[in-house]
Amino acid sequence: MKAQTLLQAASFLPIIAMFMFATSHAQNETPALKEVFKKAFHVGAALNREQISRTEANTIKLVEKQFNSITAENIMKWERIHSEPERYDFAPVDSFVAFGEKNKMFIVGHTLIWHNQTPRWVFEDGAGKPADRETLLQRMKDHIFTVMGRYKGRIHGWDVINEAVEDDGSLRQSKYLQIAGEDYLQKAFEWARAADPQAELYYNDYNMWHKGKRETIIRLVRELQAKGVRVDGIGMQGHWGLDYPPLDELEESILAYAELGVKVMITEMDVNVLPDPGGHTGAEITRNYALRKELDPYTEGVPEAVQAKQAKQYGDFFRVLYNHRDKITRVTFWGVHDGVSWHNNWPVAGRTAHSLLFDRNLQPKPAFDAVIQTVRGD
Ligand code: XIL
Repeated sequence: MKAQTLLQAASFLPIIAMFMFATSHAQNETPALKEVFKKAFHVGAALNREQISRTEANTIKLVEKQFNSITAENIMKWERIHSEPERYDFAPVDSFVAFGEKNKMFIVGHTLIWHNQTPRWVFEDGAGKPADRETLLQRMKDHIFTVMGRYKGRIHGWDVINEAVEDDGSLRQSKYLQIAGEDYLQKAFEWARAADPQAELYYNDYNMWHKGKRETIIRLVRELQAKGVRVDGIGMQGHWGLDYPPLDELEESILAYAELGVKVMITEMDVNVLPDPGGHTGAEITRNYALRKELDPYTEGVPEAVQAKQAKQYGDFFRVLYNHRDKITRVTFWGVHDGVSWHNNWPVAGRTAHSLLFDRNLQPKPAFDAVIQTVRGD
């Protein structure tokens, strides 16, 4: 009798085991990027204002689970944080930094000196005429000291200069260059170093794999180094597509930047699957095209073949990045999930974008699995 009961109980064991496996599998179902790449590099996401003000609870949960670095998508740009000469809007940034600190994340400041999303007054004299060189430099200095000073020791890395070079390798004819001359670059790095000597300082740009651009940036960084001005890192924005950048050019660029003795990071990664009306690569934010139906093909979801192509592309990129993990310190995605990607509004407003690793319902996509697989297959 006793033996029979035991036997009966034993027959349940596989079922119990299966149940336990299923439960533990369900709990671990989605691996965390920050764990998978823990020994390789930080994995980050850009946060927008709504996420920072914590109105999207599920997105915040996903960020906490998946990422160990954050960048502010817009709230630290000059027009937001310093919209008028005497006005600084720090409140959202304070929350952003507090969120990163609570989660022990690597916090990135984006961005100090950029020609876009900067108010006109910065470059004007008050009567609508161009400001003189001294005035502009003084404004840059005040801005850098005030913004960096407030978060000294708390924000770990800064995009000091964003997008100062054109794809052909010429210096961008921005108002900074036109009014202040080429040494605005050096001054920005010097002031940033003085404002927070512990922070990492970066040059950040798109199309960083373009040869012309790469050569100029390498020359600029070398010139700064020769003058004793240290640049700590090169940010390759990583706004990429289904057929660019070529893997060999990406790899050559990582190697070339690393040769400077600086850290390399992918700072704004996304892989756009939507057609680009101008056939451009890169991320020139002033480009803007009218919405036409054929430019917005995946409003009801992405066909499997396109999902697979994107997954392959993400996997290929991450294999390169993971192979060079001794040079790469961070990979940051430009947004948390497809629903909030800037590609929903750029370069065509009102499209349905699918550029990131998580879909609109915050579910991991095939691209996510492909990224995870680059380590698991190691
Ligand atoms: C983008 C933001 O994602 C958008 O919300 C905003 O409207 C325009 O700027 N390069 C950069 C980022 O350095 O700051 C840009 O972010 C994308 C291109």
